[in-house]
Amino acid sequence: MKIEENVSLKNYNTFHLEYIADCIIHLFTEKATTDLFRKDHRWKEPMFILGSGSNLLFRGDFRGTILHPRFGGIEIESENNDHVVISAGAGINWDDLVEWTVENGLSGLENLSLIPGCVGASPVQNIGAYGREVRESIEKVEAVSISDGTFTVFSNPECEFRYRYSIFKGREKGRYLVTRVYFRLSRKPDLMLDYGMLKDEVKRLGAESVHNVRKAVINIRRNKLPDPDQTGNAGSFFKNPVIPEKQALEIKRNYAMMPAFLESEGMIKVPAAWLIEQCGWKGKRVGNAGVHEKHALILINLGNATGDDIFLLSEEIRKSVKEKFDIGLEREVEVIPN
Ligand code: EPU
Repeated sequence: MKIEENVSLKNYNTFHLEYIADCIIHLFTEKATTDLFRKDHRWKEPMFILGSGSNLLFRGDFRGTILHPRFGGIEIESENNDHVVISAGAGINWDDLVEWTVENGLSGLENLSLIPGCVGASPVQNIGAYGREVRESIEKVEAVSISDGTFTVFSNPECEFRYRYSIFKGREKGRYLVTRVYFRLSRKPDLMLDYGMLKDEVKRLGAESVHNVRKAVINIRRNKLPDPDQTGNAGSFFKNPVIPEKQALEIKRNYAMMPAFLESEGMIKVPAAWLIEQCGWKGKRVGNAGVHEKHALILINLGNATGDDIFLLSEEIRKSVKEKFDIGLEREVEVIPN
């Protein structure tokens, strides 16, 4: 365990905003974590668990304690002819894990290549991209209870996964710190190529293999999404709204080109990026904050933006979408303090 005080948050959030946290506690082992929760419990409130800061917007200094899990280790837990169950520490960089699985010929996570973040955040958010969500590969999640330091294992159904949602964002929010995630992966390629231009990009690269799917996803992402190391951003700023079919049909009467995907019976998912683009925001700048020119769902720090610059821009965008389409966009990014 390492404790730092008055720490710059610049390298702890992918918007690269310059704020200070009163205290960061780095947790390197599960034992240190359980000990901390069992014995000490003397951190300054509020307390917040930070992964890689790739889905966060700070609006000011953080006058409390940040817990930063840094557990590593990728282990093979069990295997048979068809499947391998591996576990990975919460602090591992997400894409390092995906690379490891692909290098070891395991299939399941390849569509989720290059998503910024760490393993511990993947179940919390139920991260997803290119037709796959991580819930499809998660066997179970190990977490420590913050109130008493006991370990709890959440099976896949107990995580209550939905689109960009799990129990860790809902009922149990703030109660658990994820320590390890168990993934069930396939030895045979179990490819999902149906999303957008993925199949074409794989074809261009050659055979339909786990390696080529990873390469294709990396190429598509690099071509379209800004690299947070160069341009501060937190990926998709809003969730894709799910609206009643009736409303979608009404909008379609005026906007026949609106993309729409069946989410569940009578409910349609609409790309927030499309709605935002229709409102004229794509590529727009407001002071030091802006909307990415290649993807309208990505808000960017143009250099010296404050958290409020980005937040206020996001509110303007929500207002336009509400006025034009009567759809309330929900933020995917967590705002602190909210
Ligand atoms: N579109 C526009 N304008 C744009 C960009 C996209 O109209 O500027 C339309 C296009 O019609 C496109 C559709 O929106 O077909 C969907 O776009 P895209 O495939 O880029 O996906 P998305 O719905 O915007 C989601 C995830 C991303 C993930 C991609 C790819 C959410 C909130 N976002 O974005 O995840 O990478 O699919 O699968 O679900 C993230 O969560 O941070 C993230 C980047």
